[in-house]
Order: sequence, then C-alpha cells, then structure tokens
Amino acid sequence: MDIQKIGVIGAGQMGNGIAHVMAQAGYDVLMTDISQQALDAALASVHKNMARQVSRGKMTEADMDAALKRIVTTLDLPDLGATDLVIEAATERETIKQAIFDDLQPHLQPHTILTSNTSSISITRLASRTDRPERFMGFHFMNPVPVMQLVELIRGIATDAETFASCKAVVDKLGKTSASAEDFPAFIVNRILMPMINEAVYTLYEGVGNVLSIDQSLKLGANHPMGPLELADFIGLDTCLAIMNVLHDGLADTKYRPCPLLTKYVEAGWLGRKTQRGFYDYRGDVPVPTR
Ligand code: CAA
Repeated sequence: MDIQKIGVIGAGQMGNGIAHVMAQAGYDVLMTDISQQALDAALASVHKNMARQVSRGKMTEADMDAALKRIVTTLDLPDLGATDLVIEAATERETIKQAIFDDLQPHLQPHTILTSNTSSISITRLASRTDRPERFMGFHFMNPVPVMQLVELIRGIATDAETFASCKAVVDKLGKTSASAEDFPAFIVNRILMPMINEAVYTLYEGVGNVLSIDQSLKLGANHPMGPLELADFIGLDTCLAIMNVLHDGLADTKYRPCPLLTKYVEAGWLGRKTQRGFYDYRGDVPVPTR
C-alpha cells in the first residue's frame, strides 16, 4: 500500500520525534494531542532538533523548512481519519490507548493502518478491540527518535502480510532498520534492556555501588553510551517500572520483579529528566547523583 499521509497521536518526546523523522523523509504528518500547548511545544522541539541537524551539516536549511511545513497539527482526533497510517504514541496506559482507538475508529478510512508505539502492551489485545486487527501492528521507535537507527515492528496474531510489508517500507524510507519481533511482553529491546536497568537499581539498592560507580562501570567497562541509571532517567522511571510490571505479570517469573527502590523513586515523583529529579538531580548546571 502506498502510504503518503501519517497521523501521529501524542506530541510528547516520542510523538514529536516520530513527526520529525516522518516529515524529514517526505511524508505529510498530522499530529494531535489534547492541548494546544503540547502541540506548540512539540513543534518547537522538532524545530530545535532539526536546527541541530542543520548546524552539524546533516540537513540543509531548505530541507528543514520544507519538512517543518509538512507537519500540521490538530486538536481534533477525528481529523486523523484522513491519513493512511496512524501511529499512536500517547501515554503508556492501556485504558488511554483503548479510549483513543475507540474514538478514532468511526472516522478511519477502510484502508488505514493503525499502529501503536507501545513499548510493552500486547499488540494482539489492542488490535482485538478494533475493527481492523489484520491492519493493526506495533511500530516501536527508540528514544531519541531522530538519532536511534532501530524500529521494532511487532505483528499481532491477526496482522496480515500486506500491513507488515507497508510498515516495513515506511521504516526503509526513513533510512532506519527494522527488527521484526513477536508479540510477547516488552518485545525484544525492552525484554533485554529493562531487566538490565532493574538489575542496576538492585545493585544500588543493595549498596554494591553508588549511582556514579554503577554508571561509570557500564560506560567504561562495557562501552555503553549512557550508564543504566542515567538511561533510566532519560527513558523515565515510571516507564521503566511500568515495563517491568508488564514483564513480571506477563511472563509470571520472579526474575522480573521490579526493584523496591525503583518503585520508591516513582512514588516520590522522581521520574528522571522529565521531572528534573531521578537517580540524578538535574536542577543545577550539572546532574548530581541522588544516592
Ligand atoms: N534530535 C536530533 N539529533 C539529536 C537528538 C535529537 N533529539 N539528540 C541527539 N542528537 C544528535 C546530536 O546532534 C549529535 O549529532 P552528531 O553526531 O552529528 O554530533 C548526536 O545525536 C549525539 O548527541 P550528543 O553529542 O548531544 O550527545 P551524546 O554523544 O552523549 O549522545 C545519545 C546522546 C545519542 C542520546 C547517546 O547518549 C545514546 O545513544 N544514549 C543511549 C540511548 C538509548 O539507549 N536509547 C534507547 C532507549 S530505550 C527506548 O527508547 C525504548 C523504550 O521503549 C523505553
């Protein structure tokens, strides 16, 4: 199927990154959120991130201007009915995603492919509650979207071959690489990454190391670009905890039990960079470890 117009639901960190790369690749993008403030902030982020690419010679100014013009915003979810592919990147809560699909469904064209950027929720379950389980799948980007090369493509049990091929063609056009994952809890990347982050929090909880020594160990000892606690702050500690809970519930194995210290940080509202405090305190000029 020839995809030209892409709807993006949610203008947060992931949504605006998705709008960015889609517009850059030549797609027309219609982005929606529940507040004008969120949409304005998203457009400002895309502009800032594209300007950074221009300053590093990775994009021309003319290409940036053309890409920015391809992103249109709306507060009316039904407007996305006119698109060929919808990528839902709203809050990682199943009830919210469900309500969005319920509201959007009556307005969709028959051919439109519905996808979710969920990092862990069952694609098959989300799909089963729509009118198009065969044209529904997981389209999972990594953060920061403009930089990370991978997109996980997750087939639900009913996803048809044409839908998968159409989504794969979009990933190819973005110049990114797709990994095909089966629909089991947290798919591939988070199935492996989150237990590592959770284990880093246990290492902190048990006093084996402190925030700095744990992060330095993985950065310098395993060549990771960010330490696991720094990365947890970057992803959001609430998201990390939610994914650990999906693994724990979905696979029913105690090896996935979330570390009580991770739960404690989330209870405190110390969710990482987005709240300016997590395993590091970001309120000053340089991040300061909180333990
Ligand atoms: N938009 C555009 N460009 C960006 C960008 C953004 N949002 N963020 C960074 N960049 C670019 C920079 O301009 C820079 O470009 P050049 O190479 O041309 O100089 C490049 O990316 C590197 O950035 P910085 O020099 O600012 O910083 P860095 O070298 O420390 O790299 C990083 C930053 C790319 C984020 C790196 O630290 C990294 O790779 N970290 C790990 C990220 C990761 O693991 N992400 C996956 C998280 S898991 C996930 O997303 C799945 C989930 O469901 C939770």
